[in-house]
Amino acid sequence: MYSVIIIDSFGEIYELKYSPNEYYSLMELIINTIVEDMGDCKGRSWCGTCMVKLVKGIYSSAILTEEQLKLNEFSELEYERLSCQIPLTKELNNTTWKVLDSRAII
Ligand code: FES
Repeated sequence: MYSVIIIDSFGEIYELKYSPNEYYSLMELIINTIVEDMGDCKGRSWCGTCMVKLVKGIYSSAILTEEQLKLNEFSELEYERLSCQIPLTKELNNTTWKVLDSRAII
């Protein structure tokens, strides 16, 4: 069992336990364990409502073209990712992410 820390849009901090590939993505783990209004496009990289920022830890995985195109709209931000494109793998263990939500940024 691994864990990831999530800071929600209200600033509340949660430690979420997960097994690798328990959900399709980090977004689904967040939606299914804490109340967050995200995922308008249901993981298609179109909406940005699932945007999160890495605030602690090291995480790197390939950013696919569709995700990069959406992230390019927020080029002033650093370390942001679309949580719908982050798989639940052991590489996420002990990382901390803040929920951003593109609707609050624009
Ligand atoms: S759910 Fe829309 S971009 Fe992730």
